[in-house]
Amino acid sequence: MVKVAVLGYGTVGSGVVQIIDDNNALIKERIGDDIEVKYILDLRDFPGDKNEAKVVHDYNIILNDPEISIVCETMGGVKPAYQFSKDALEAGKSVCTSNKELVENYGPELIKTARANNCNYLFEASVGGGIPIIRPMNTSLVPENIQRIMGILNGTTNYILTKMAKEGADYADVLKEAQDLGYAERNPEADVEGHDAGRKIAILSSLMTGKTVKFADVHTEGITGIDTVDFEYAHACGKSIKLLATSEQTDAGYVAMVAPFMIGADHPLNGVNGVFNAVYVTGNMLGDVMFYGQGAGKLATASAVVSDVCECARNVGRTLPCVWSEEKLELADPSASVRKFFVRVKAEGENSVADVFKDAEKIRVKDGEFAFVTGEMSEADFKLKLESVNGVIKSIRLA
Ligand code: HSE
Repeated sequence: MVKVAVLGYGTVGSGVVQIIDDNNALIKERIGDDIEVKYILDLRDFPGDKNEAKVVHDYNIILNDPEISIVCETMGGVKPAYQFSKDALEAGKSVCTSNKELVENYGPELIKTARANNCNYLFEASVGGGIPIIRPMNTSLVPENIQRIMGILNGTTNYILTKMAKEGADYADVLKEAQDLGYAERNPEADVEGHDAGRKIAILSSLMTGKTVKFADVHTEGITGIDTVDFEYAHACGKSIKLLATSEQTDAGYVAMVAPFMIGADHPLNGVNGVFNAVYVTGNMLGDVMFYGQGAGKLATASAVVSDVCECARNVGRTLPCVWSEEKLELADPSASVRKFFVRVKAEGENSVADVFKDAEKIRVKDGEFAFVTGEMSEADFKLKLESVNGVIKSIRLA
């Protein structure tokens, strides 16, 4: 019998308890052992809940119980989740988490602590919710030199952009609707400014390189500047606009960024809509592979946590390989990255565009302005050229 404690009985934590309960028999058949939730740690009481008797308020009860071999950290935030995780690992108890903030900030340290104590720190649910991506990076993709990762890693922004694309809806209206439906937080900054996706691509970049990529070093742009006219142009070009989190090897080094991109109809990420997420990985031998699924939500995210619990239960006394050292990776500046750019310009800028971007083909969807797509050039070249164009409204990168 494997006894588990769940820290935090919120959306994900209650999902973990539900999955271990509902799928108990099939999990037992697959891992050859019974899993039982013995404790649920929460500040609150849950009168009438069927797991009411398992609720405790003192973490030491869990820490000092030798029967508990796995702790699910579904609390979120750094305090007290960091200390609780560290204490559990030092006591030889594996930790399975959905907490991307903690993983991004303390992942390598906690992995090292787990290794020193013959247990595991697993974090499948921290990126892409229910999508299996962390374990494939550590197992199936081991022989690959991963050259690039492109991900739609935030459900809230993908929901907003999909609604804007399909219904011509306004950003502010869709954001409000997303908040009313519970997809977007009341304070949506972390999602709409790209910070949530930035933390997730920092984690994936760390696994891709084996070193530590800090979120603070990831160039991050959000979707607040995208409007309905941008989508009119995108439709006219047969493209869509997605918030992409990218990480790639370039001649200048690794470049990681989060930004809105225009993406062609033939790209697999173009079809990822609503709250769904996807991670598109390019390996030097495998080529392209895409992982797709629900990037958030109670049972999808909890399923990833329980999948980690099963891995821990199958590997008692053994630390699973995960190459993520504490050595910091200095990211290269995105200015050397080469791509095409979409540019919107006021009508009066027409002559200056012809002077600077000689072959630019104009796209017109409304009076008073036009747009064009550049040839391939570095971000630095593009920026320099754009300085000579009058009346620039905005530019969007092309994927
Ligand atoms: N706010 C996140 C999203 C939740 O919208 O994708 C999952 O990390």
